[in-house]
Amino acid sequence: MAASSWQVALLAVALCVLPAALPAASAARAFFIFGDSLVDNGNNNYLLTSARADSWPYGIDTPDHRATGRFSNGKNVVDLISEQIGSVPVLPYLSPELDGQNLLVGANFASAGIGILNDTGIQFANIIRISKQLTYFEQYKHRLAKLYGPERAARVVGGALTLITLGGNDFVNNYYLVPYSARSREFSLPDYIKYILSEYKQVLRRIHGLGARRILVTGVGPIGCVPAELAMHSLDGSCDPELQRASEAYNPQMEAMLNELNAEVGSGGGNGAVFVAVNTRRMHDDFIADPKAYGFVTAKEACCGQGRFNGIGICTMVSSLCANRDEYVFWDAFHPTERANRLIAQNYLTGSTDYISPMNLSTILHLDRHLHD
Ligand SMILES: *[C@@H]1O[C@H](CO)[C@@H](O)[C@H](O)[C@H]1NC(C)=O
Ligand SMILES: *[C@@H]1O[C@H](CO)[C@@H](O)[C@H](O)[C@H]1NC(C)=O
Repeated sequence: MAASSWQVALLAVALCVLPAALPAASAARAFFIFGDSLVDNGNNNYLLTSARADSWPYGIDTPDHRATGRFSNGKNVVDLISEQIGSVPVLPYLSPELDGQNLLVGANFASAGIGILNDTGIQFANIIRISKQLTYFEQYKHRLAKLYGPERAARVVGGALTLITLGGNDFVNNYYLVPYSARSREFSLPDYIKYILSEYKQVLRRIHGLGARRILVTGVGPIGCVPAELAMHSLDGSCDPELQRASEAYNPQMEAMLNELNAEVGSGGGNGAVFVAVNTRRMHDDFIADPKAYGFVTAKEACCGQGRFNGIGICTMVSSLCANRDEYVFWDAFHPTERANRLIAQNYLTGSTDYISPMNLSTILHLDRHLHD
């Protein structure tokens, strides 16, 4: 059923069917997404930027084998979470299809290349930085209230699930972009982490202030182990220790910051928690430590790319492309395959507190079931 609603949604886009013709998705919980390329599902298609995934072989494993703007061979992690909450995929905010009933499904504001800091991803030119994503969220709320009235709009937002994925680019595309980067001369690593987390805290306060009440916040993944970093820094395929140290130091401090925020907004750290920490590093580490245990052939080589570890440059139609995407953890030099995303999404749903804390998505869905009766 989830697969068929995905197909219906894609078909609707392909045929330019009016939004009202989509299935009655308004019954499910709305879903809002903020962040970077790990969760962008097509906003950058509408922008003049080099950070894009709108041409083949991106999307090779979607039903019509067409690129959608997702940085994956197929679905990304938020598509799979939409399936879990019983919803159709959320549309990118810039999509002209996002209107009418489709607004009730939520909206995806993410934009590949961005970070917590405004100067992260500056090389990608025209991308939607996080403060702009929040401005779009305000705009979305106005549109929703205009169509459905302020009470229903507040119910949709307050009953929604929200996810934000940021931070990886603040290391990869800022602090460690080049040796002796401006930021690395300005800050030691511990001070930089403190700085970006204090900025992040303000972003999260603002999302809460706009009415979001269940907010999944992902940590930084194993950025030293992605094929791009192996290609540049590793002789033998071992992960880059400096980048790994950065994510190791960042993640527990991010979790502590979320605990402070939960206390600040009066939700405590238990079942009432507004902010939920997702340990994507831990989720990925499992595959990286033992890819075969998860049915992967490699967690080092990208499926689509060129050069060492297939991790150099971007994935294009002239790249070397693997035959079986399901055997690879990494689709391109930075982003997971749909199959890896599926395992990650399963961890969101049923993982222990080592993976998602203070509770997993299935607990959240159970606790919040009255919101959607
Ligand atoms: C980033 O840019 C926005 C919008 O111009 C601004 O409000 C915000 O303060 C900036 N953040 C930092 C850390 O400079
Ligand atoms: C996570 O989900 C599973 C399955 O629904 C549940 O049994 C478990 O208790 C949950 N764990 C936590 C820490 O919430």
